[in-house]
Amino acid sequence: MPVPLIIDCDPGHDDAIALMLAAADPAVDLLAVTTVAGNQTVEKTTLNARRVFTVAGITGVPLAAGCARPLVQPLTVADDVHGASGLDGPRFPAPAVDVVPEHAVELMHRVLTGHPEPVTLVPTGPLTNVALLLTRYPDVAAHIREIVFMGGSTERGNRTPAAEFNVHVDPEAADIVLTSGVPVTMCGLNVTHQALATPAVLARLEALDTELARTCVELLTYFASTYRRLWGFPAPPVHDPVAVARVIDPATVRCVDAHVAVELCGRYTRGATVVDLHRYTGRPVNAQVAVGLDADRFWDRVIAAVDALGRRAT
Ligand code: RIB
Ligand code: CA
Repeated sequence: MPVPLIIDCDPGHDDAIALMLAAADPAVDLLAVTTVAGNQTVEKTTLNARRVFTVAGITGVPLAAGCARPLVQPLTVADDVHGASGLDGPRFPAPAVDVVPEHAVELMHRVLTGHPEPVTLVPTGPLTNVALLLTRYPDVAAHIREIVFMGGSTERGNRTPAAEFNVHVDPEAADIVLTSGVPVTMCGLNVTHQALATPAVLARLEALDTELARTCVELLTYFASTYRRLWGFPAPPVHDPVAVARVIDPATVRCVDAHVAVELCGRYTRGATVVDLHRYTGRPVNAQVAVGLDADRFWDRVIAAVDALGRRAT
C-alpha cells in the first residue's frame, strides 16, 4: 500500500525535484503540499510550487500557503542559491494551479485528521509550519506516522559554519519538532551532499526527451552554477528528494538512532543540530539520523519519476 504523505516545502530547486518524486513514485500517495518561507518569501515559494504543479502536471493535490516568517527571528532567504524568484533558470508558463484558501497549518490539520491512517510529513524547508501545527493542535500527533525532514547535519553547516539553512532559518521550530515526541527522521547535509546531480545524471534526464525533463535539466544547471560559485562543488547536491526517498525506499537512505539537539543560544552555533552519534551525553534517542545514501538507487527513482510525469504531460 502506498505511504500517505504531505510535503511542506520552500521551492527551491531541490524542493521542485522532491515534489516530482513524491507526485509520481507509486510507493507514496501525495495527499497535500504546503509552502513556507525559506529559500524565498512565502509568496515566491508558493508561486514556485504552483509552477512546479503546472509543468509536472500534478493535479488533484491541494496546495496551501503557510507561514511568512520564522517563529522568533526575522526571515533570511537564500536568493544567493536559488535566485531572485527562488526558482531561477527555466522560463515557466503561467501557473494553471491555484492554492486552496486555507492556511497551510489548517490544510495539514484537516488532511491529517481526515485520513483513515497516520500520515507521513516530509518537510523540505524551515519547520515553521510543522512546529505551529504541533503547537496549535497537540492531538494531531496521533495522526502523524513520522516526520522525515531535510535539514540539519551531523557535521558542518551551509549557512553558518555550524548551521544548515532550514534549521538556521527557524531553530525554534526545529527544536519544537525534535522535542515533540513524534517519530522524527533527520536527513542532513552529511547525506544529502551525496545526492549530486552529476553530468551523468543530467545526461540521463536529457535523454528522457520530454519537456519536463528539459525543465529539470535547466533547474539543475542553474543550481549547479550557484553551488560551483558559492562552494566550488563540481555538481549540486539535490537535498530535498533524499527525504522523500527515505519514505519511498528506506533502504536507499541508511539511518541510525541518535539524540539530536538544536542549539538555540550559541553565539557562533545557533541553529546547529548537535547529533550524539556515539551516545556521549546519555540523552535519550529522539530521532533517526540519515548517515548513508545509495546514490544510484536514489537517482534511478528520481529519474523514473520525472520520466513518468513527463510522459503523462505529453
Ligand atoms: O540546506 C539545504 C536546504 O535548504 C534545502 O531544503 C534547500 O531547498 C534549502 O531549503
Ligand atoms: Ca527546501
